[in-house]
Amino acid sequence: MAEKFDVKSIGQESSYSPDPSYKQNAWVRDYNWTYREFLSNPDEFWGNVARELEWYKPWDKVRDWNYPYAKWFVNGKLNITYNCLDRHALGKNRNKIALIWRGEGEAGRFYTYNQLYKAVMRFANGLKKIGVKRGDCVCIYMPLVPEQIIAMLACARIGAIHNVVFAGFGAGALNFRMNDAEAKFVITADVGMRRGKALPLKIIVDEAITNAPSVERVIVLRRQEPPIELHQEIEVDFNEIMEGVEVDCKPEVMDAEDLLFYLYTSGSTGAPKGVVHTCGGYMVGVYHTMKCVFDLKEDDIYWCTADPGWITGHSYIVYGPLCAGATVFITERTPDFPDPGAWWRLIEEQCITIFYTAPTAIRMFMKLGEEWPNKYDLSSLRILGSVGEPLNPEAFEWHYQVIGKTRCPIVDTWWQTEAGMHMITTLVGEPMKPGFAGKAIPGVVADVVDKNGRPVQTGQGGFLVIKEPWPSMFRTVLKNDERYRKYWFTIPNTYTAGDLAVKDTDGYIMVLGRADDVIIVAGHNIGTAEVESALVSHRAVAEAAAIGKPDPLKGNILKAFVILRVGHTPSDKLRSELIHHVRMTLGPIAMPSEIEFVDSLPKTRSGKIMRRVLKAKELGIDPGDISTLED
Ligand code: WT7
Repeated sequence: MAEKFDVKSIGQESSYSPDPSYKQNAWVRDYNWTYREFLSNPDEFWGNVARELEWYKPWDKVRDWNYPYAKWFVNGKLNITYNCLDRHALGKNRNKIALIWRGEGEAGRFYTYNQLYKAVMRFANGLKKIGVKRGDCVCIYMPLVPEQIIAMLACARIGAIHNVVFAGFGAGALNFRMNDAEAKFVITADVGMRRGKALPLKIIVDEAITNAPSVERVIVLRRQEPPIELHQEIEVDFNEIMEGVEVDCKPEVMDAEDLLFYLYTSGSTGAPKGVVHTCGGYMVGVYHTMKCVFDLKEDDIYWCTADPGWITGHSYIVYGPLCAGATVFITERTPDFPDPGAWWRLIEEQCITIFYTAPTAIRMFMKLGEEWPNKYDLSSLRILGSVGEPLNPEAFEWHYQVIGKTRCPIVDTWWQTEAGMHMITTLVGEPMKPGFAGKAIPGVVADVVDKNGRPVQTGQGGFLVIKEPWPSMFRTVLKNDERYRKYWFTIPNTYTAGDLAVKDTDGYIMVLGRADDVIIVAGHNIGTAEVESALVSHRAVAEAAAIGKPDPLKGNILKAFVILRVGHTPSDKLRSELIHHVRMTLGPIAMPSEIEFVDSLPKTRSGKIMRRVLKAKELGIDPGDISTLED
């Protein structure tokens, strides 16, 4: 494992200071002061944030830390949707726009806070009507349309636990997530729209539920004309379940520690992990960061380009922005269709002020050239955000110069599915250093340490860790608390994030990448284990190993090494068949870009594949310590 990193430029990096007006008007005007306030009394700090929100009953205690288990806002009662909807819809913001959606071509819709509130309540009543109860798990597998968000909020309204699966996943991945979470209900759509084409989703659900005994009903949003036929026994129409229901749906009174959702993330070994998030702490964490990290103001039009199917979407399309009363823009359009100006045109048309996207998208735009953004008026932009993988200095510079016209601060936000909320960034108004995410936000204690938990010297690489619990931390891994404990026991009393990082003399943190066998491909977290098990489920494959290979655009691409079973011979045809097989099982996001047929794989004497040896060989670098290598 790379423990000593020599980052040559540490200490000499360039830095940019935004216009002083940003700092003067920011929610957090003085980072150092606010951070010290937090450190002097963390419970008071978080209690003050929580008091900005509405609770049915206040908490007895802000934090109950029984290492490695935390409870936050103990005995507090709330419903997150009351804070996302009622609070605005019944107050002065009732006519404020909550959600703007643009589809392809002329398609578009918007909801005021009051309209969204009513739409969520009606669907929540529809869910109740077909038998969804508090504590039931509802799997949501939908395209990026308002109904996807309405479905999530309706679950939260009635105390059902949602398990959103990104619609780019294949039937195998969906099936695993439904079964592991024991989903009783599935909400889906006939199709999603992508680059002018209808992408069938319902048929993937059909395949995924053939072997999912917990699933009782499937709710289908029918977008196409004529509507597809439904199988009456288990399938119901998304809109029909709302027929005849009342508009009013009282929110369930939830305990702060009641479950809000499961969301699956890839691990370095074994099956994906069902990350468990709870109501109270999660609400407080995403609200706080939405406000302070994006420095959200009353008239912002905020666009996060993620899908609600990822944690970024849960926290910063749905719960954070709505809790904070923002106007949220979403689109089903891809950045390059019908032409590479698509997203810049949307920024101009919608007067977007905060634009939160991923490094892989920024690098794609760089490649397409400045002429595309330069055709549009981007002067509404105020703040730029980045998430998902390191924002390399070249991409930072381009985003800063070409999109932000050196005017807009960039918040490079480091966090994880497990974290629930932003953890490390450079707050608006603070000096920014390209390549560095920044410092722990007020509310979070982060550091870079060696394997024994000792802080490493400036400029030396180490493990990125979090040293204190935080409100929106995950509470466990569903059905696998051992995996939860591992995060907290790898280094005692410390949360090990699985990333390598380095700190400079000012305390700015640069995230270098994963320390384990998780590969971040175009910002998506992919476990080698998942790809390998998808490959070996093909009849021709005996063994497989997957590695990430650095790629200028996607950060990494997947390369798989495959040993064939006897009777099968390597060919280009078999290679594309295997790629297709992974695509159908896991979905297009986990498709290997390269497959190499091999006769053997490097293994330890105990039989574990040494992926780093494969990777070193592939990249022509020193494989490091290979004393455990068999033979
Ligand atoms: C992993 C978590 C959190 C939302 C999206 C991904 C990498 C995330 C950054 C960043 C460098 C980053 C890390 C992390 N990552 N943001 N700003 N700079 N790396 O969530 O799928 O749970 O993945 O994404 O490696 O551990 P996720």
